[in-house]
Order: sequence, then structure tokens, then C-alpha cells
Amino acid sequence: MVRHFRKDAPGFLLRTHEQYGDVAFLRLGGQDVYLLSHPEYIRDVLVTHQSNFTKSRVLQRSKKLLGEGLLTSEGQLHLRQRRMIQPAFHREKLRGYATAMTDWAVRTRDRWQAGQVVDMSEEMARLTLGIVGQTLFSANVEEDAPEVGRALSAILEMFNLVMLPYSELLEKLPLPFMRRFNEARDTLDRIVYRIIGERRASGEDTGDLLSMLLMARDEEDDGAMSDEQVRNEALTLFLAGHETTANALTWSWYLLSQHPEIAARMRAEIGTEPPGFEDLPRLKYVEMVLAEALRLYPPAWAIGRKAIGPYKIGDRYECDPGSIMLMSPYVMHRDAKYFPKPERFDPDRWLPENVAQRPKFSYVPFGGGTRVCIGERFAWMEGVLLLATIAQRWSPKLVAGHVVRHKALLTLRPEFGMKMVLEPVAGA
Ligand code: HEM
Repeated sequence: MVRHFRKDAPGFLLRTHEQYGDVAFLRLGGQDVYLLSHPEYIRDVLVTHQSNFTKSRVLQRSKKLLGEGLLTSEGQLHLRQRRMIQPAFHREKLRGYATAMTDWAVRTRDRWQAGQVVDMSEEMARLTLGIVGQTLFSANVEEDAPEVGRALSAILEMFNLVMLPYSELLEKLPLPFMRRFNEARDTLDRIVYRIIGERRASGEDTGDLLSMLLMARDEEDDGAMSDEQVRNEALTLFLAGHETTANALTWSWYLLSQHPEIAARMRAEIGTEPPGFEDLPRLKYVEMVLAEALRLYPPAWAIGRKAIGPYKIGDRYECDPGSIMLMSPYVMHRDAKYFPKPERFDPDRWLPENVAQRPKFSYVPFGGGTRVCIGERFAWMEGVLLLATIAQRWSPKLVAGHVVRHKALLTLRPEFGMKMVLEPVAGA
């Protein structure tokens, strides 16, 4: 079983759901795991009974890099941090980030050449890294950008190892990737702490996320964050906000390349001027395309929780404390009960009248409840602006013969990258 899980975990979970229904019991890595694939059961864990759960192993293990950041902390500390960081995602802040997003997309589309072959996953990673770097660290990081980029890539590579059984043991060995990981972490720390020091010294509010973190005061105890907390949160946002969005965009380009009629319909909506914050409400079809790509290829393909006390799933199945509840957006999004002909790429599923017919928790690319993705609105905005800005100029086509297969590491990404030829849009 573990072999199948390792080879293609999302596919294995989907087959398990199809065979056993809304609740399936698995023994994985020596633990009792319940695969929950019913919108009500997912809501129960993420919302109604959330206080009976903590994050499961993978995220706990991320603490090695992220410390007690938003993604990894629990209980009161998490609530406090969430309260302090939330304002960084308020409407007025998002408006500012929108400009940076479109600017970066314009820079990318200007750099590309007709007929050039690119690996779209690398291109999108570079783009979203630039954006998160700029909105998080402003211009300060520009000089350090190549170093930051290299350090983050090394860390992501290493990060995926935490998915492996026995990775706790691997970490203790003097292996080259562990050395690279430690070096990368030290590089990032050096840069982040330097920027924190400079900002604290100048007292300047540059309007970016880092300023928000430094200036944040808890409304209840009026305390500020320590440098270490700011570092943890900055790295968390950097990592959580970069790969996920890059993957969502890469899959969107792939799906658009396979459905020229949908790409044409999207192009009819986007106009020719780079879009801004005010254009978002009219970019409805672009948003539907992104929603549908996130349905078929949710970057966060699994969400896990560990039961603190005993737990009863839907008044039927008694689970022991310590049991893992595994909820897979990938599985849920491919259930024909909620998404007929689930394999079909059909953005019209996201017309309001169709959405109204489905239970809310049948679609969970950003999770739900108190731990719902804090960057959800940032990600929607970034996805829509980047797709629209680039599609005004380019119509990327999959390179003939390139094999596309998903690989589920920390995020769901294309195993062999996404080789695409850049075709200019007629008349652009
Ligand atoms: C398409 C893009 C994205 C997807 C699919 C995604 C998905 C998710 C999911 C499913 C969770 C919940 C995990 C759980 O409950 O265990 C989460 C949490 C989180 N995400 Fe995202 N995310 C995306 C983009 C972003 C961005 C752009 C940022 C920041 C700029 C971000 C920051 C975070 C943080 C900090 C958390 C932890 C929140 C908490 O526990 O309070 N994410 N994300």
C-alpha cells in the first residue's frame, strides 16, 4: 500500500475513495489514517470540531525551517499571529500588491521571444518569487535576489524530503543535501535578519508585508513581534506564497493549451491594456479558468489533521486520539457527484448558478476554517492578473511529445516540468 501511495499518492487516494466511499481507513507509516471525502466530514474537521485537531506530521516537521510561523504554530500563539498578520491582506494592501504583480508579468512577457521554448513551471516560479519578494521585502531584496532565489530553491528541494518516511533519520546523517539545506537556511536568515535590522533602525514604513510585520501590535496585549517571529513569518509567507501559485499558473497554461476554444474565450475578455486592481471584477472568465485549474490540479493536494481526543466521524466511525484525518482537495474535486465528468476542463462549472448547486466544502483548494489560507485573496488576484497580462501577448503551446504527469511532493507539480513554445497572439 505504501508503495502505491509513494508512487502516485493523489491517484491512489482517488481510487481508494472510489472503492470505499466517503470514509476510508488506511494504515500509513504506522498511523491510523481516515481519508475523508465528503464535504460535511471535511467541514466538521476544519470548522465545527477544529479545536479537537492539530496539524499533522508534515507541517509539524516544517518547523525545522519555519520555526513557529503561521503555518506551523498552534492554539493561542497561532491566533495571535494570525490577528497580527491579517491586515497585510486587507483590501487596501492588496491594491498595492496588484501593481507589483502586473508590472512583473509585463516584464516577463517583454522578455519572452517568439518561438522560444520555455519550461513554464520555471518561468512561473521565477515570476511568483519576484512578486512575493517585492511585496514582502520591497526593493531591498533586489541586490540579493539571485542568492535568495538559489537559497529558496535548495530549501524547497529539501523540503520535499520531509514527505518521505524515515526523513527524521535522514536528517541526522551528514548527507550533502542536509548541508545544502543548512547553508541555504543560513543564507536566508542572514538576508532576512539584515533587512529586519535595517528597517528597525530606520523606522520607515515601506508599505510592504515586512513593514506590517515589524509594526504589528496585537490588539489584545499590544505586544510586538520579536525579530525571530518576524523572520519565521516572513519565511513562511515567502515559501507558502510562492510555489503554490506558480503551480496553479503552470497547470492553467497547460489546460489552456489543450483547449484553444477556452483560451479564445478568455482572450476575448482580457483586452489589450495591462490590467490593474480595478479590472479584477470584470475578469470573470479568467477567474473561472483559474478556479477550474485549481479544481483539477490543486497545488495543496492534501490537508491533514491529527485528533487530540477521541473523534467520531459523522456519528458513525469512532477514532482513537492520535488518528489522522486526511482530506484531499484532489480527491474531493474529482468526485462526479459534485463535478460531473470530473476529468473535463470546463470553466462554466464556475458560473454562479452552477456553484450554487454544490456544497461549499466540495471545493477546498485553500482549506477552510480558522486555518484557511491567509493568502487566498492574494493568490486569486495574482493568478488572474498574471494570466490576463501574459495572455494578452502570448499563447503558449505544449511542446509536441512532452509528457505531462503530476508529481505530488509538498505541492502538486508537473513531474517533468512543462515545456512550452511561445506563440505570439495575432495582432498583439
Ligand atoms: C494557489 C495558491 C495557494 C494555494 C492553493 C494555497 C493553499 C493553502 C492551503 C490548503 C492552506 C491550509 C493548509 C491546512 O489547513 O493545513 C494554506 C495555508 C496557508 N497559506 Fe496558502 N495557498 C496558496 C497561496 C498562498 C499565498 C499567496 C500565501 C501568502 C502570501 C499563502 C500563505 C499561507 C499561510 C501563511 C497559510 C497558513 C495559514 C494558517 O494556518 O493560519 N498561501 N494555503
